[in-house]
Amino acid sequence: MLFRRYTYKIVLILIWSVVFLWWYTTRHGGLDGVLSDHSTQIRNDAGPLLPDTTGCVPNIAADPSVDSSAKFYSVWKDSVKDVQKREGIIRKIIFWTKLWKKHLNVFMPGKEGKLCPTLPQCIFTTSAENLKNADAVVFENSQLPGTYIKSEMPLTRSPHQQWIWFISECPNYLTIDLNSYSGVFNWTITYRTDSDVSGAWGSLHMVYSRLKGADLDPNTDYSVGKTKLVVWFISKCSSRAQRILYANELIKHIHVDIFGKCGRIVCEKQDFACTVQYIRQYKFYLAFENMKCKEYITEKFWRHALTNNVVPVVLGAPKKDYEYLTPPNSFIHVDDFESPKALADYLKLLDTDSEMYNQYFKWKTNPPKSIPLDNGVWCNLCRKLIRICPDTRKMYTNLDKWYRGENNDQCVPLRNGTYHEVQFASNTNDL
Ligand SMILES: *[C@@H]1O[C@H](CO)[C@@H](O)[C@H](O)[C@H]1NC(C)=O
Ligand SMILES: *[C@@H]1O[C@H](CO)[C@@H](O)[C@H](O)[C@H]1NC(C)=O
Repeated sequence: MLFRRYTYKIVLILIWSVVFLWWYTTRHGGLDGVLSDHSTQIRNDAGPLLPDTTGCVPNIAADPSVDSSAKFYSVWKDSVKDVQKREGIIRKIIFWTKLWKKHLNVFMPGKEGKLCPTLPQCIFTTSAENLKNADAVVFENSQLPGTYIKSEMPLTRSPHQQWIWFISECPNYLTIDLNSYSGVFNWTITYRTDSDVSGAWGSLHMVYSRLKGADLDPNTDYSVGKTKLVVWFISKCSSRAQRILYANELIKHIHVDIFGKCGRIVCEKQDFACTVQYIRQYKFYLAFENMKCKEYITEKFWRHALTNNVVPVVLGAPKKDYEYLTPPNSFIHVDDFESPKALADYLKLLDTDSEMYNQYFKWKTNPPKSIPLDNGVWCNLCRKLIRICPDTRKMYTNLDKWYRGENNDQCVPLRNGTYHEVQFASNTNDL
């Protein structure tokens, strides 16, 4: 009797438990869940490679990736009759320029290659044959003429073809007249999140992918075995860079080993002291960017500091950019301190308190809930080409303003004064 009275409740509780368990495991799939690579779903291992249209939003007004108030590019839908039917599922990408002077032969010995192994339907090539059928043509900024010259570009252009401007540096480094390139490019690849394709120097996805399967102990003491305090590698020594003034003040209050062309210690690349492994002996790494630009976080941060278990002390992009682009509490931002001396004092405090120091490594075993997909620039490009609606069109009407910011506000201007190369020789008199 008693049992009967409760059967209904027990069944209800059981159903709820199953639903909850299902919900919980789908939401909290651990690192594997967070990092699930949607791009692998595109590949149908049993059969042919299938095009994926998950990113394709036919109605342009409903497309969240389209900013209708955008001032520096326009987006539209081509009329259906003009939309060329893509043949098959292969996407072909032509490199019209070399990449940073180096031939692509290093990556693609036979002129052609699959730069994204997980998405083999994208063929990258340096050969301009079949230009007409190419889905994308990539132009690397440093290899472009200083002003636009029509004859240096491909002579024909299919309506579905994406011409892509690729740059990895920030606007303060621009050497070409971008105004003359207005109306030329359809897409951009830069380090910025508002680019069409991400070419960032590093990302949460890359960092946590590398840690996947590492089985780290959350209680590891990362101060163990570290015999040195602060290290800085600097080889571009412009007196007009913002970081010079700051560093010059900082080294009055804490000992910093300075390596590189502008440092106290100049060493050859083959020298152990100049290799990244050497960094591991230090507790802190000054990841001071050469330029202070929004979202501009380079390999100093990603490769030199994070992968070597050294806490990066950062100067460059605003703190909020580091907060959404990098692992939680993985860095010390100079803006949190009222002076370089206050920062020096804080570093000295962390040096004596391993508990506090180890807080900067908790991110390793505690990934954020959602991590944007990024498996390298060429996979990002391939994925976008696969998913784009065939009738979507875009064109940068004012590339210069888009890149520098409407009021030149993407970067903090360089310091006034004439340029000279700073040499850090001693603890005091440097500028
Ligand atoms: C790219 O831009 C050109 C020139 O403005 C335009 O004619 C073409 O339709 C655009 N293509 C795509 C795929 O957006
Ligand atoms: C540099 O000098 C110009 C003109 O004298 C001034 O308007 C600008 O604010 C200065 N910039 C900096 C970063 O000090």
